[in-house]
Amino acid sequence: MRIVLAGFMGTGKSAVGRRLAARRGLPFIDLDAWIEERAGMSVAEIFARDGEVRFRALEKEAVREVCRGSDAVIAAGGGTVLDDDNRVAFEKAGLLLCLVARPDAIAKRVGDSVETRPLLRGHPDLIARIRDLLAQRAPAYQRIARKIDTSDLSPDQVVERIEIEIESARTAAGRGAGGASA
Ligand code: S3P
Repeated sequence: MRIVLAGFMGTGKSAVGRRLAARRGLPFIDLDAWIEERAGMSVAEIFARDGEVRFRALEKEAVREVCRGSDAVIAAGGGTVLDDDNRVAFEKAGLLLCLVARPDAIAKRVGDSVETRPLLRGHPDLIARIRDLLAQRAPAYQRIARKIDTSDLSPDQVVERIEIEIESARTAAGRGAGGASA
């Protein structure tokens, strides 16, 4: 199966995704890395040279490709599901989960890598910037039914929660299939 982790920057998508993939014996795809490989530049360079609109177009293309590809654990970028087509594509392709976290937990995690994140860098008050973006994006993240708050959890604990979500999705799908055939 495909398991897609969405959610804001610093919610743990990549760290958790890597562990989950290893545990399930699935390949791990980091959508930003996928885009960087094809573009031959870093996300920060794409933003700087071609702008966010170009990055979002490349991101949309990457979503199409990974949704057509084989089973994997996929870590989306923080803004990927702001585009509703992307969210729907992920939902059709597999199990979509949204990782969420408090602004302070996010700030702590992205602290060292702010320079690689064009939407956060250069803002003197990091927490205020994170709060603003979270508020703008809340409606998009809320469209994803399955959410896990990672603020106070280690990556391995988040993996455990995801395993529970996978089981509950399976049970729900089984009930659906049983209901249809009854
Ligand atoms: C973005 C998040 C980043 C990357 C780009 C834009 C966003 O991914 O896709 O900088 O809009 O939130 P991560 O969430 O992996 O940092």
